[in-house]
Amino acid sequence: MPTGWIRLSGVERHNVRGADAAFPLGVFTAVTGVSGSGKSTLVGQVLAGVLADRQAGEEATGAGERFCASVTGLEAVDRLVQVDQKPIGRTPRSNLATYTGLFDAVRKLFAGTDAARERGYTAGRFSFNVSGGRCETCQGEGFVSVELLFLPSTYAPCPDCHGARYNPRTLDVTLNGLTIAQVLELTVESAASFFAGTPAAERALTTLLDVGLGYLRLGQPATELSGGEAQRIKLAAELQRTRRGHTLYLLDEPTTGLHPADVEVLMRQLHSLVDAGGTVVVVEHDMAVVAGADHVIDLGPEGGDRGGRIVAAGTPAEVARGPGAVRRRIWRRRCGTDRARMIPYGPTRSEPYGDDRARVSGGLCGSPRSHSLFIAAIEGSGMPLGQAVAHSPVRVQPPKPSSSIWATMSRTGSRVPARPAAGR
Ligand SMILES: Nc1ncnc2c1ncn2[C@@H]1O[C@H](COP(=O)(O)OP(=O)(O)OP(=O)(O)O)[C@@H](O)[C@H]1O
Ligand SMILES: [Mg+2]
Ligand SMILES: [Zn+2]
Repeated sequence: MPTGWIRLSGVERHNVRGADAAFPLGVFTAVTGVSGSGKSTLVGQVLAGVLADRQAGEEATGAGERFCASVTGLEAVDRLVQVDQKPIGRTPRSNLATYTGLFDAVRKLFAGTDAARERGYTAGRFSFNVSGGRCETCQGEGFVSVELLFLPSTYAPCPDCHGARYNPRTLDVTLNGLTIAQVLELTVESAASFFAGTPAAERALTTLLDVGLGYLRLGQPATELSGGEAQRIKLAAELQRTRRGHTLYLLDEPTTGLHPADVEVLMRQLHSLVDAGGTVVVVEHDMAVVAGADHVIDLGPEGGDRGGRIVAAGTPAEVARGPGAVRRRIWRRRCGTDRARMIPYGPTRSEPYGDDRARVSGGLCGSPRSHSLFIAAIEGSGMPLGQAVAHSPVRVQPPKPSSSIWATMSRTGSRVPARPAAGR
């Protein structure tokens, strides 16, 4: 299925010492491994480095070159997009709406109203970053710095606009009953219905919904966004773009903190990038994501100096079957017992099996002591791992940073459908 491969040999960076890594093109690859095993190093620094070097031009002897002995297959990639968790802006003057370009469309809509035309207000009037329409007391920030004797200065809502950021004359203009300040207070979700039928605004809003950010307010300052939110905003901005050529997307843990339902939505978006002819490489802990990948690269076996090696690579099923020794060790560590039992997932829940059976059965497994649930092999159950998680009668949390294709799922619901291997 891959259209080609990027092969890095002799990778040397941090704890990755002399590894050979191959990334398939035109498919979705998940890079897994325990914390500190070298995932971000391999993907975010080495792979990104060699591609960035290539983009910068052949003469560049930049970061990537120094990280590995030789590289092949880069010529198939036209563009590198690294969707990281760095802030989208460092001042409260940039926000979700300004970053995605949505605010440009909104300001034009306001300038197009009869009230704005009568007053001669252009789109610039509806910016809080330039003088004209903004509140000058706070220069459009909505708050002012208050100097306190003997204490560090602090911020208070602006006494004039009370946080609205605009002057009263600007707020005389409404669009379908809302002022520009009120529009900035809308969540993405309510804005999507408010702007339904306005293509320019709809496109940005739809992509933000697509990456599970419906709950954010349009005017939420960049400084108040989490790393994961910033990453998904970048992804949304990228999804809006018309795509030309072969793009390689790199993402480091894009599902951090996401609700499982939103993980699914996000994955659909990432897979659509592959469908459009791109390559996606994600560093990922979420086993539902890993199970849905076309290719898995598992780093380990542990963190730091004991990691940095590629312990398995292949399809999720191949990696789950994996080398016995590695699998068994992880299994024991996760379960905290050798007597781990497994409940095969299926319409009829039969007796728990020992872990020898687990190798081939797959599904949800539980340890009698910890009451944790484990996702075992995908093989043999006839049900893909992602689907097993989705259909699980047990509510599962996103897995903690854990290892390889095995994930600890702690129960959140109090209703326990079957006590794993109790009394056996
Ligand atoms: N700038 C650095 N200088 C030296 N060592 C580093 C540096 N960054 C990371 N390391 C080390 O390299 C190893 C791999 O780190 P890396 O960030 O790649 O791990 P990871 O697999 O992405 O982990 P996590 O899941 O926690 O993000 C770790 O032992 C880490 O301490
Ligand atoms: Mg990392
Ligand atoms: Zn003000």
